[in-house]
Amino acid sequence: MEENGTKCPPSEAGNGSLVFAVNGEKFELATLDPSTTLLQFFRYHTRFKSVKLGCGEGGCGACVVMLSKYNPELDQVEDFSVSSCLTLLCSVNGCSITTSEGLGNSKDGFHPIHQRFAGFHASQCGYCTPGMCMSFFSALAKAEKTNRPEPPPGFSKLTVSEAEKAIAGNLCRCTGYRPIADACKSFAADVDLEDLGLNSFWRKGEPKEVKLSRLPLYTPDGRFSRFPEFLKGRSKSPKSLHLENSSWYTPTTLEELRSLLNSNLIENDKLRLVVGNTGMGYYKELDNYDRYIDLRYLSELQTIRRNHHGIEIGAAVTISKVIACLKDADTLNYSTDGKQVFEKLANHMEKIASGFIRNSASIGGNLVMAQRKSFPSDIATILLAVGSIVSITTGHKHESITLEEFLTRPPMDSRSVLLSVQIPHLEPKGNGNNSGSNSKLVFETYRAAPRPLGNALPYLNAAFLADVSHQVSGVLVNNIQLVFGAYGTKHATRARKVEEYLSGRMLSASVLYEAVKLVKVDVMPAVGTSHAAYRTSLAIGFLFQFLSPFLRVGSVACGGLSNGLTGDLLKDSLENHRDTSLCQWEYSKLLLSAKQELKSSKEYHPVGEPITKSGAAIQASGEAVYVDDIPSPPNCLHGAFIYSTKPLARVKGVDLESNNQLSGVAALISYKDIPEQGENVGSKAMFGSEPLFADDLTRCAGQQIAFVVANTQKFADIAANSALVKYDTANLDPPILTIEEAVERSSFFQVPPFLYPKQVGDFSKGMAEADHKILSAEIKLPSQYYFYMETQTALAVPDEDNCMVVYSSIQCPELTHSVIATCLGVPEHNIRVITRRVGGGFGGKAIKAMPVATACALAAHKLRRPVRTYLNRKTDTILSGGRHPMKITYSVGFKSNGKVTALHLDILINAGISADISPLMPANIIGALKKYNWGALSFDIKVCKTNHSSKSAMRAPGDAQGSFIAEAVIEHVASILSMEVDSVRNLNLHTFQTLNVFYGESAGEALEYTLTDMWEKLGASSCLLQRKEMIEQFNQINKWKKRGISRVPIIYEVTLRPTPGKVSILSDGSIVVEVGGIEIGQGLWTKVKQMTAFALSSIGCSGTENLVEKVRVVQADTLSLVQGGFTAGSTTSESSCEAVRLCCNVLVERLAPLKSKLEEQVGPVNWDVLILQAHYQSVNLAANSYYVPDSSFMRYLNYGVAVSEVEINILTGEAKIVQADILYDSGQSMNPAVDLGQAN
Ligand SMILES: Cc1cc2nc3c(=O)[nH]c(=O)nc-3n(C[C@H](O)[C@H](O)[C@H](O)COP(=O)(O)OP(=O)(O)OC[C@H]3O[C@@H](n4cnc5c(N)ncnc54)[C@H](O)[C@@H]3O)c2cc1C
Ligand code: FES
Ligand code: FES
Repeated sequence: MEENGTKCPPSEAGNGSLVFAVNGEKFELATLDPSTTLLQFFRYHTRFKSVKLGCGEGGCGACVVMLSKYNPELDQVEDFSVSSCLTLLCSVNGCSITTSEGLGNSKDGFHPIHQRFAGFHASQCGYCTPGMCMSFFSALAKAEKTNRPEPPPGFSKLTVSEAEKAIAGNLCRCTGYRPIADACKSFAADVDLEDLGLNSFWRKGEPKEVKLSRLPLYTPDGRFSRFPEFLKGRSKSPKSLHLENSSWYTPTTLEELRSLLNSNLIENDKLRLVVGNTGMGYYKELDNYDRYIDLRYLSELQTIRRNHHGIEIGAAVTISKVIACLKDADTLNYSTDGKQVFEKLANHMEKIASGFIRNSASIGGNLVMAQRKSFPSDIATILLAVGSIVSITTGHKHESITLEEFLTRPPMDSRSVLLSVQIPHLEPKGNGNNSGSNSKLVFETYRAAPRPLGNALPYLNAAFLADVSHQVSGVLVNNIQLVFGAYGTKHATRARKVEEYLSGRMLSASVLYEAVKLVKVDVMPAVGTSHAAYRTSLAIGFLFQFLSPFLRVGSVACGGLSNGLTGDLLKDSLENHRDTSLCQWEYSKLLLSAKQELKSSKEYHPVGEPITKSGAAIQASGEAVYVDDIPSPPNCLHGAFIYSTKPLARVKGVDLESNNQLSGVAALISYKDIPEQGENVGSKAMFGSEPLFADDLTRCAGQQIAFVVANTQKFADIAANSALVKYDTANLDPPILTIEEAVERSSFFQVPPFLYPKQVGDFSKGMAEADHKILSAEIKLPSQYYFYMETQTALAVPDEDNCMVVYSSIQCPELTHSVIATCLGVPEHNIRVITRRVGGGFGGKAIKAMPVATACALAAHKLRRPVRTYLNRKTDTILSGGRHPMKITYSVGFKSNGKVTALHLDILINAGISADISPLMPANIIGALKKYNWGALSFDIKVCKTNHSSKSAMRAPGDAQGSFIAEAVIEHVASILSMEVDSVRNLNLHTFQTLNVFYGESAGEALEYTLTDMWEKLGASSCLLQRKEMIEQFNQINKWKKRGISRVPIIYEVTLRPTPGKVSILSDGSIVVEVGGIEIGQGLWTKVKQMTAFALSSIGCSGTENLVEKVRVVQADTLSLVQGGFTAGSTTSESSCEAVRLCCNVLVERLAPLKSKLEEQVGPVNWDVLILQAHYQSVNLAANSYYVPDSSFMRYLNYGVAVSEVEINILTGEAKIVQADILYDSGQSMNPAVDLGQAN
């Protein structure tokens, strides 16, 4: 397969070729590396760039496409979503694939999904959006094929709940899920349009019919899911693919499979059995296999058999199909208890990964991973609890063994194949003295994971099956199976000691207590397992949840009702099970609902109106071009970083593994390749620079050591991954790894005095006034990784005369420009940095994107060839450092009524190895912390230099921590005084006078201090008092679930920065705008367009009403608009708009005389005529500006208040937000839809 060639002529392709369709177009390939994924094929060999790479592990959904398979026997097409980053290209032989651009596009018209995503303001950076659209479209296509009643015109057969669940597993890092869910729900037959949030289709209060007529019409015409005729023939029999130097086998009988496994193929360790290939998402093996045996065509592995003994499921059956089959257990005459077991297994499986993974992941693949590699499987745990049996074949030997034996055997060898799993149909048996008819089966499964509804591996999972019967004195356990998994043991195991203890016993509080004690001993995570204590306490919590409902039966029985004991009591306890399944969210309920109210006016039309975000529809269709979507120029190479794994060491050399796979490697670039006149610089901020590569000494783990450049990104990644760096630490001082060590060795970054925040009042005096004191309390705040959906990426293209064009996904192209010029040792006018849009930045693409662009530029400079890179998620995470961890020690004095009189803080910030933006942290922390009137405030803040990767700006850097510290102190004070936290907060809010003392000039005018009003307003509108009472009642009734509510204020100080702008009017009246700011999803371009239209329309001629449609904002280009500055700190849109307004004012001034003249001559003129005349008359129609904010207006305060109600399960630690009410004073919003998008 050629790098950019997509199709082989059929004559070359021959019989063993791979044939499939993408958006109806035929693709036929004769040569390819069978380890190629569908995503790699799309991104590197086709124009279908809507398929984005976010994680490469099946965990984010950015790469989702719809796969359609034709079943010739049934003449039916099956459509489902899959993650293209894990799906192997060879496995789509004979299939049809639909991508978001295949649904619709700007040329042929957008699909209603694209239009509704845009209209419901459901995208910001847009990087996740095509994947979202495809997950949703797949659900839509599937629903249309059901025989549900026809929906009303314009709607689909999906229900609201299904519409919402269709995108579960698709991550978005910018937009709130509410607008995304609303866009999807708008298609549901049972939707109430009133429930849908802000959109650009209708206005609040319009009648339903009007609303409906405004929605882009959806008609399920099957146009997009029609299966291409040319593929139908191929679907009849699977074809093994005989590709050059590699093969993809598709055995259809066990005999064929055995002969393949018995051949010398198996000696080749580059052979892999495969079904869905999703295991790669977890193990991320970078090895290239060249022979695959696809198990999906063996009928034994695909069949589901049901009989009275249970359900036998072929190992290659996907988890989605297993779920459907278990839920459909009604069709056989299974017992009620047996059916419930099946249903609960299915419910648990719905929390495994996400729909697009379950659609290709097989049950067998999961169990084999659990058996061979100790994968923390859910399936192994739940199937073990119900006593499943597996069938395996090895050579000619065929055996059926219990799942338990399977898991405990040594890892299966490569000739063994798992054929099927039998899940028994269970019925209560009672015990010897007690017939089964009086007993009942109780089955529950549990899992605690970072995300309860899936897409996160569990900390612990468990499944419990009990055969119980009620007796006069309570509940008797006849038999019990307790399985725990995923807690750091090799595989799921039965807690035998607990089982033995409980079997045959009547349940009582003391029995439960003993059982719980035994669990502690039985469920012991292996040494080194993370969160070990939490996992053990979860195990106890789960068992407690399972058994405690039976105690109620016991207590009622002992209370003298023994005569009346019937099966009803037991039934009640089973009901209790349902009620107290505390860790299982009520998944059937709608996940999201929200309400927004906004007032907008036409006064500054179109500024202030909630217009649709610029480019939202092309983001949805996948046509929006991000850096990695730019087609590679000829001869383009790809780079990958080799980074240090030592915090402080001499680098003695770097060896690349010399095997054939690495033949594509073109060069290894290090600091030695920096031109003589250049400098080893990879980034710079106002406080200094950071080297591009470690020289002889690496100073932190994660420091770039070299950049491998190869023919493809895959080869570059493999080469970087296998590189061997030789280190030497002899005679070096030990690295500084903690802030305490930094203090001991006085390793600090200096904070310039003008940036160091000012103390307020006299701390000792404040303490002297206090009735109570807390001394030297401690808070530790950890770091946090970035997770922008688009990882760091750049493309450098050498140009004539030592020039270079660099496309970079960065928040500050101007500085990158300067860094690249310095590194290459060329004048700045030789470099041009272009940034069109960024797929999420959150501060991580300010400084941390610079070395990525600079390394590409250096490699391109040296090799005289274009070089690009798209960092894999792991490298990105390691290189980019993350949020600043810190340790805070505070002493606080306060009166008995809760009024704080003095606060002192000692803060140690771990800044890592270089200054980056860290010297700004003290000001940011204190800026947010000053939201309360502390009486006197003093502090000592040290920015510690350690041998960690340098920490950088991350979403409100310092502000987030400052606000957290303030709340921790207030809560501490309230707890000492046993007071309501809310009243302590209230008491310590600023008056305007104290605000002035703490914030000085930034406090502005008294009228602008809206926080206290908002505090009251939100208290009333969120019904804070009533809800507090309700929560108290809730907490009294519920033992294990507790709720809490709190109201928190926020003050955020912003600083405006100088910003350039340029507005040019073209001869047809269309307008092109350049601004220094970068569109990172925050809606900058949309607001700039609105401001341009508003400001130019002041010329006062007709034809300017819809001027906004004539405005295009174009990419940032550092040679076209200099001094672009940073996009950060929440003020870029505002300053860019002001810069643009200044340009427009100049243009209006130039146009006004001509307009008057024309009006005198011909009467009223419209915009197009005026502009054409201006062109003819050589009016300068381009204006530049550089907005420099007035120093008296440069800094101001923003206020917000939020009320959050949360619920916590105190047995498992799971927490959920029940409701959040937010009131934010955004002044006069330039676009409420965009601004609301920033909040939720
Ligand atoms: C993002 C993500 C989240 C996940 N979350 C969870 C979770 O929460 N809980 C959970 O339990 N699992 C989870 N999984 C694991 C998932 O269930 C497995 O990856 C999947 O079931 C494996 O099936 P597959 O068909 O893709 O196997 P493949 O990847 O094709 O194969 C996996 C391994 O098994 C071997 N193999 C496959 N079938 C057979 C067979 N019949 N006989 C012999 N060898 C075989 C293959 O050679 C390979 O070594 C998650 C996976 C991903 C990607
Ligand atoms: S799921 Fe494929 S890139 Fe994240
Ligand atoms: S809009 Fe979803 S990740 Fe940015």
